[in-house]
Amino acid sequence: MEVTIDNYSTVELDTLPINDSWDGRDVHENLMHRIHAYPAKFPAFITTKAIQYAESKDIKVDTVADIFCGCGTVAYETVKANRHFWGCDINPVATLIARTKSRHYDDKKIAHYYADIINTFVLLSFDESDAVANNERIKYWFLQEQIEDLSRLKHAIERVVTEETYREFFLCAFSNILKSCSRWLTKSIKPQVDPIKKPHNVLNAFSTQVKMMRKANDQNEIKRSFADIHTANCLTNSVEHPFVDLLVTSPPYVTSYEYADLHQLSTLWLGYTDDYRTFREGTIGSLHGENKLSEHLKELNNTGQDIVFKLYAVDKSKCRSVSQYYIDMQNAVKKVYQMIKPGGAVLFVIGNTEYKNVKIDNARHLLESLLNEGFTEVEAERRKISNKILTPYRDAIGKFTTDKNSRKIYSEEFIIFGRKPLWEKH
Ligand SMILES: C[S@@+](CC[C@H](N)C(=O)[O-])C[C@H]1O[C@@H](n2cnc3c(N)ncnc32)[C@H](O)[C@@H]1O
Repeated sequence: MEVTIDNYSTVELDTLPINDSWDGRDVHENLMHRIHAYPAKFPAFITTKAIQYAESKDIKVDTVADIFCGCGTVAYETVKANRHFWGCDINPVATLIARTKSRHYDDKKIAHYYADIINTFVLLSFDESDAVANNERIKYWFLQEQIEDLSRLKHAIERVVTEETYREFFLCAFSNILKSCSRWLTKSIKPQVDPIKKPHNVLNAFSTQVKMMRKANDQNEIKRSFADIHTANCLTNSVEHPFVDLLVTSPPYVTSYEYADLHQLSTLWLGYTDDYRTFREGTIGSLHGENKLSEHLKELNNTGQDIVFKLYAVDKSKCRSVSQYYIDMQNAVKKVYQMIKPGGAVLFVIGNTEYKNVKIDNARHLLESLLNEGFTEVEAERRKISNKILTPYRDAIGKFTTDKNSRKIYSEEFIIFGRKPLWEKH
């Protein structure tokens, strides 16, 4: 990498040359990565490069982890490379997709289960007492015809598919058709009703989705799964984790996505909650945390304090959520340090944003956090994000725009690498 850093304040991250070897524009991604939409998905090739990079530093990489595993991009690539993977994400929809992606399926079984699901769907009548179908939020997003069909389809899957792995496969398919079968504005990542949208027919959408997933499975490069994936808050000790050789991850952002809100159709339909807002709690980057600004100021590192002070002058409420975010990220770095074996490494992919002309310098904050925690051989690279060059802003619903008053999206992001020393200083 270009620069080894021992003092975060002397390095000018924004003027680092763009390193084209971290540009994955031409790298083919396996179709399994596209079986379910997920915001802020990680470019798949980064995992392979991260493993190679760690090995070039004589780290023997048997186990890779991702504490913000999202839809399982790192999981898939790690298992594909025949290494063990351990991951967690606070969002149960994310871990459902991640588990589904990192397995191989017998196509004959998929076909057999699919035929049984459709036969059962046809025979089942709509159960008017289905709690999900009666949820007010579901009624807000779906027309009655789709509600009845989705309810029958979900019951058919649960009744017919007895093997857990295949049941997750079909529930993942079910989850990915929800947006197109709802009134959710098609091009919007964020929740917004399209009053003139004609939602898709449930069975047609399901059939197309299963076909696509079968094709992906046909090209699947995973033959055996070594993935252990949990729904958990990485900041708590709710699940046991192994000690790992390498951790590859991209943290959540603040000021951009409210993850719990984005996945509400799936969390409600899959019965993970009857109030999607409960998932905001614990989600790093949520704007709905408590106000602990004065406590935070003492704990924030220098970069965090600097950004929070600047934000205080322009937007006090945003300043509170950003301070919570940086405290959470500092704790996440502590957690990462504990999880890595002595001599092992971490590789983060992280981007900056801007809010009302205040630069939200996540990369510098992370760099300082790694150094404070005791990581050594800390290095940074700047890489181009392939498809974000022409429209560098996002509007209120998350669509790309050239409107300069919207939230700025940088067309570059950073790769930050650090190593846990073999011997710790006392
Ligand atoms: C940038 S995304 C990761 C995307 C992932 N690399 C992929 O390719 O899908 C960040 C993830 O962090 C998760 N997250 C937020 N807070 C968390 C927490 N406290 N513990 C675990 N995961 C969390 C979000 O649900 C989201 O999936």
